[in-house]
Amino acid sequence: MSTVKLTVNGKAVAVDVEDRTLLVHLLRDHLNLTGTHVGCDTSQCGACVVHIDGKAVKSCTMLAGQADGASVTTIEGIAKGDELHPMQAAFRDNHGLQCGYCTPGMIMSAIDIVHRHGGQLDEATVRHELEGNICRCTGYHNIVKAVLDAAGRMKVSQAAE
Ligand code: FES
Ligand code: FES
Repeated sequence: MSTVKLTVNGKAVAVDVEDRTLLVHLLRDHLNLTGTHVGCDTSQCGACVVHIDGKAVKSCTMLAGQADGASVTTIEGIAKGDELHPMQAAFRDNHGLQCGYCTPGMIMSAIDIVHRHGGQLDEATVRHELEGNICRCTGYHNIVKAVLDAAGRMKVSQAAE
């Protein structure tokens, strides 16, 4: 057992976990943050993507102990009160989700993609960048539309801050 100290969605937490515990299980089983999902056991699906110090990471492929000292953001941490993050709003408005199981990971990946590419995003880039996130419902088309839409919204909301 080890104590892992990390900041999750802006809150400092200390959790005692077995050394083999994966970050995704720390989040889901110990912190009850069950938006982050597990869709595979081979690091392919991306349903488990969270941000570690602002970067998208598959939390099923990282030990909880490796996140010691890090700042973790999950899907539960991106809305501001009742106000959705622009990426969440764009997924809703463009019908970028059906069952919703891939959506938390998809949204966390998509936010990182927009941060890295800024206003330079085009459809081919979004499709390429999202290759680490699998969706069985949407056929991806509306997800791509949502990400491109959100890229514009995020620029506007950042400019307003
Ligand atoms: S659960 Fe599938 S990549 Fe993490
Ligand atoms: S919305 Fe169902 S897997 Fe993507």
